[in-house]
Amino acid sequence: MIAAAVVAAVAAATEAPVLGSGIGYRPAFRADLFANRSRVDCLEVIADHYFDASPEKIAELDLLRAHFPIVAHGLDLSIGSAEGIDCAYLEKFARLIERLEPPWWSEHLCFTRAGGVDIGHLAALPYTREAIDVVARNVETVQKRISAPLILENITTVVRVPGAEMDEPEFLSRVLEATGCGWLCDVANLYTNAVNQNIDLDATFERWPWNRLVQIHYAGGRWRDGVLIDSHDSPTSEAVWALYDRVIARAPVKGVILERDERLPRFAELLDEVAHARATLRECGRWG
Ligand SMILES: [Fe+2]
Repeated sequence: MIAAAVVAAVAAATEAPVLGSGIGYRPAFRADLFANRSRVDCLEVIADHYFDASPEKIAELDLLRAHFPIVAHGLDLSIGSAEGIDCAYLEKFARLIERLEPPWWSEHLCFTRAGGVDIGHLAALPYTREAIDVVARNVETVQKRISAPLILENITTVVRVPGAEMDEPEFLSRVLEATGCGWLCDVANLYTNAVNQNIDLDATFERWPWNRLVQIHYAGGRWRDGVLIDSHDSPTSEAVWALYDRVIARAPVKGVILERDERLPRFAELLDEVAHARATLRECGRWG
């Protein structure tokens, strides 16, 4: 049974304004960003970077908010933890959301904490009914404190967790159905899992929950020891762009965000990617 607050949150996500083509904010390009203000439609900030922040960091956040539509992206909510949500962490997140008032916010469909221990990375959930129930319980807890709509992101996983009762498209679809959350589709993650796990994306494409799509991430990865890694340290590949184009043609979306964390190039190269992403939105009648 989905709580009324969650139903309201879903409606709010699907009715949110289209934010356009933006970028994940990194302090290293702050000056370049403001020098090119008109070429970036929106920003995504990493929520965790502003918890317990200095007055200078909070001032930075307020400055960004004054100039750009902003969505918040969390790293450590651990929405799939069987032990439940860390209340202190949730409280910090809630205060940030109150400050930003974003149209939606996002987290990864994974767990980062088990048995009270921070495991230090985004760990994949088993694709089971039990895991769906855990996520649904945790989302209900979260949305009692944060009424802004939560959307969940598909992650990469090199190893398939044993005991799966379904595949990833079915698991994600059922999680979103049970929680009422929207979908942050990371097309690079979709592509990465398909390559590493030898999955035929064409065969499964229609089984992903396109009716829940709210936001997209795209990024460049890197090969390491025969495995494709979602390293966010290189330009978006042609294969990921092709998948991006296909997704934009397939379903309406509210915002698309370039993720680049390492080996930052000249800002002009990031702007080219943001423009490329925007051009596809326009061609498909999704923006402007
Ligand atoms: Fe992502």
